[in-house]
Amino acid sequence: MTTPDPADRVLARASLAEGNPTGWFEQLYTAAERGEAEVPWTRGAPTADLAAWVTPGNGRRALVVGSALGDDSELLASAGWTVTGFDVAPTAVAAARARFPESTVDYVVADLLNPPGEWHQAFDLVVEIMNIQAMPRDFRPAALTSLAGFLAPGGTLIVSEVAEEHFDMATWQSPPWPFCRAEVESVAQDGVEPVSLERIRDGARHWATFTR
Ligand SMILES: C[S@@+](CC[C@H](N)C(=O)[O-])C[C@H]1O[C@@H](n2cnc3c(N)ncnc32)[C@H](O)[C@@H]1O
Repeated sequence: MTTPDPADRVLARASLAEGNPTGWFEQLYTAAERGEAEVPWTRGAPTADLAAWVTPGNGRRALVVGSALGDDSELLASAGWTVTGFDVAPTAVAAARARFPESTVDYVVADLLNPPGEWHQAFDLVVEIMNIQAMPRDFRPAALTSLAGFLAPGGTLIVSEVAEEHFDMATWQSPPWPFCRAEVESVAQDGVEPVSLERIRDGARHWATFTR
């Protein structure tokens, strides 16, 4: 007897077969609200690596890509950053607002593949953790161009994705689509420059920082 695929894989497959790289996220969040699925990346706590990195914001502007249920955005807000968190899934954005009704975070629905023009070079800190890898590789160049474009001069861009080098890609089932080192390095474009690139979690993830 084979184990049935979890809901996220079933929804992702159907969405991708229709040529829609992001539609399954909203479907998954709404199914989870109905108690019919689990959202595998919800932990009820901020990303540990970001918690280890976080520095005082002193009111500077931070953008959290793929803000999901809001934990990373709230972490940064509590450290004094003026935070915008965005997600393509309206149900995730509504859930983040509902979880943190007193929050100072501006939670908005937006698509990394077509972001608001006013975000261009508008953020002193940009946090991208495990979102771009959740879209097929065809969309990666556009996503990375958007990402680099958010960073203000003198700011910091954090990128963390699953490291292809750590896994046997011959047996790997996507999503996610892991990053190799060169792909992480390719975030450095249009005036964005690398600062550091390391492998964390016993080599399983890239953790890179950039500036402009
Ligand atoms: C794999 S989850 C990671 C969530 C969170 N960053 C974390 O590390 O736990 C990807 C999140 O990004 C969102 N997302 C996927 N594609 C997106 C896009 N093109 N624009 C904005 N958000 C997107 C999804 O709805 C989902 O909440």
